[in-house]
Amino acid sequence: MKPPLLKRVDAAPDPGKVRAMFDTIAGSYDLLNTLMSAGLHHRWRELGVLLAGVGPGDTALDVATGTGDFAFALRRVVGPQGRVVGLDFSEEMLAVAREKSGRNQHWVDFVQGNALDLPFADDTFDASTVGFGIRNVPDIERAFAEMSRVVRPGGRVVCLEITQPQIIGFKQFFGLWFDLGAPVLGRLAGSNGSAYEYLPASVRRFPDPETLREIMRSAGMQNPRYEILAGGIIALHHASV
Ligand SMILES: C[S@@+](CC[C@H](N)C(=O)[O-])C[C@H]1O[C@@H](n2cnc3c(N)ncnc32)[C@H](O)[C@@H]1O
Repeated sequence: MKPPLLKRVDAAPDPGKVRAMFDTIAGSYDLLNTLMSAGLHHRWRELGVLLAGVGPGDTALDVATGTGDFAFALRRVVGPQGRVVGLDFSEEMLAVAREKSGRNQHWVDFVQGNALDLPFADDTFDASTVGFGIRNVPDIERAFAEMSRVVRPGGRVVCLEITQPQIIGFKQFFGLWFDLGAPVLGRLAGSNGSAYEYLPASVRRFPDPETLREIMRSAGMQNPRYEILAGGIIALHHASV
């Protein structure tokens, strides 16, 4: 019998609503990401790429790629001999990613698909990553199992996510800032503020880093570990296949 790891993830996200929401905010997503992370999100992804262990000529998959920044960071490392695929189910987020890909000459194959049913054969990639995406899927273990399935034995899986800080005081401040700040920043960036009310709710129902590590293990990954960044608000999980 499966351990009740997912009990803490109550009110699983509705994929139809999540997809419609990301279609709506696609145009303001990058600006919001930069405002909310003070530009640090690029650094976090670079660290994620390091932990993915890829090098020139490798192949990598970025799941829930959105506007493609994790995929572009992978592409910079695998180089022109390598291949990066970015997958997402929001056509509008992918449209922004494709536009950036052409504009910056960072060639990534962007494909529409579902993280819970990846359209790739077993052992296709050297690594797979997911950035701020796993929080949005209704079945985290299945998404991890899929990421693991498409990576060759010995390859790596990396997950970058927002997490709730554990330090008393900072935890409360973070909750307040998120509840009030995210919708305000959303409106300032010209997006639907209510879409950014979803953000704090999705972080709150998300499992803590220890539980997420156990979910990775249940999904069949080897030696799952995590690093806590940015004073406790970011968790970078990584494991071998
Ligand atoms: C917060 S954005 C993250 C985008 C990007 N990875 C980043 O690091 O900025 C979450 C993305 O997950 C995508 N997503 C959510 N559930 C998905 C699913 N089941 N299959 C594919 N994409 C999904 C959304 O469409 C959205 O683009």
